[in-house]
Amino acid sequence: MTVSILVLSTSLNANSKSRTLAKSFQSQLEAAGAVVDWLDLQEHELPFCGVEDSWDQPEIRALRARVDACDGILVASPIYNYDLNAAAKNFIEFTGGAWTQKVVALAVSAGGLRSGMAPLGFINSLMLDFRCIVLPRYVYVVDEGYDEAGQPNESTSARIADVSGELVRVTKALSA
Ligand SMILES: Cc1cc2nc3c(=O)[nH]c(=O)nc-3n(C[C@H](O)[C@H](O)[C@H](O)COP(=O)(O)O)c2cc1C
Repeated sequence: MTVSILVLSTSLNANSKSRTLAKSFQSQLEAAGAVVDWLDLQEHELPFCGVEDSWDQPEIRALRARVDACDGILVASPIYNYDLNAAAKNFIEFTGGAWTQKVVALAVSAGGLRSGMAPLGFINSLMLDFRCIVLPRYVYVVDEGYDEAGQPNESTSARIADVSGELVRVTKALSA
C-alpha cells in the first residue's frame, strides 16, 4: 500500500535551515515510496488562532482538509525559546482535530546542542491532545549538520533517510 505523508515546514525565515531538512525529507520519503504533500507555512499568511472568524476562513479549512487527508506528518521547525516555533503551535491550534491518531515525525534546526529535549513539550501535546503516534526519535540539527551550501551534510542526510524509512514503515503498519 502507498501512504501519504504531509511534509510541514513551519519556519517563516526566508533563508530557513529547517526548510532544507523538510525538502530533504520530501525526497527521502518519496524514495521510500510515500506520496508527499508539501506544505510550507511561508506560502500561507495565517492569522493567529482565536482572532475573530479566523477558524472558519476558507484557507484554514483547506489546510485542515490537507491534514485530514494524509496518513502521516513530518514537522520541520526551528527551535525558538526551547520549543518549536510559534507558527508550528498556531498551525496545530487551527488544525488540531485533524491530527487525531496520525503518525508524526519531527525534524528541528537549533542554534546549539543544549535544546535537544526542547521538542518534548510539543510531542507531549500531540500525544496527549490528539493521540498521535510520534516516532521515538527525531532529527535534531545544529550548524555543523549543514554543508557549506547550507544543505544537510552526509550524516544529517543519513539520519533523515533513517527517520523517513521509519515514518513510512510505521505509517504503513498502522494504516493497514
Ligand atoms: C527567537 C529565537 C529563539 C531561539 N531559541 C533557541 C533555543 O531555545 N535553542 C536553540 O538551540 N536555538 C535557538 N534559536 C536558534 C534557532 O533555532 C536556529 O537558528 C535555527 O537553525 C533556525 O531555524 P530556521 O533557519 O529554519 O528558522 C533561536 C532563534 C531565534 C530567532
